[in-house]
Amino acid sequence: MRDVKLTDIYQHRIAQKYITRSGIAHAIAVAYHAFQLAHESGEDVDSAAKAGFMHDIGHYTWYKNGKWDYDLYRLNDIHAIKGAERAHKLLIRLGENPIKAKEVALAILFHTDSFLPGGEVVRTPLQSIVKLSDEKDEEPGGAHHYRELDFERAMKSLEILDNKIDDYLKKKEE
Ligand SMILES: [Fe+2]
Repeated sequence: MRDVKLTDIYQHRIAQKYITRSGIAHAIAVAYHAFQLAHESGEDVDSAAKAGFMHDIGHYTWYKNGKWDYDLYRLNDIHAIKGAERAHKLLIRLGENPIKAKEVALAILFHTDSFLPGGEVVRTPLQSIVKLSDEKDEEPGGAHHYRELDFERAMKSLEILDNKIDDYLKKKEE
């Protein structure tokens, strides 16, 4: 049995505020990709889905005159750092196992190179999965952040993914 489900995360006010901000449809799509890739490579499907779902929870809004300002964003963005911390705090509050909370936080920290001054990060397989899953759902001009999905449908998709994760873990135990 998992300590925390995706639907528990989504219903929390912190997730409602910050995951919704950078696009709930994108968050869910990345969670599905991460689950799939983890499934295929024998990695932890639960951590992968959670990190995928929360990978952009650290975004701030860099708008100027109603338009996203890429210069401001590039200059000031720390969403991977902020997201790692925010996701960790939220998971711990929800009763997550601290080792898992750390693993998810690190996968969020390394899901992008955008905040690093240079050089490649050496990623664990789980961290690579989250990065790749994010890239799979990217659309030109950042359009993936603006696809909409209402609360009910988002909950439904997350319930389905939660069930897939539970089924997989159950089969693995048998
Ligand atoms: Fe993303």
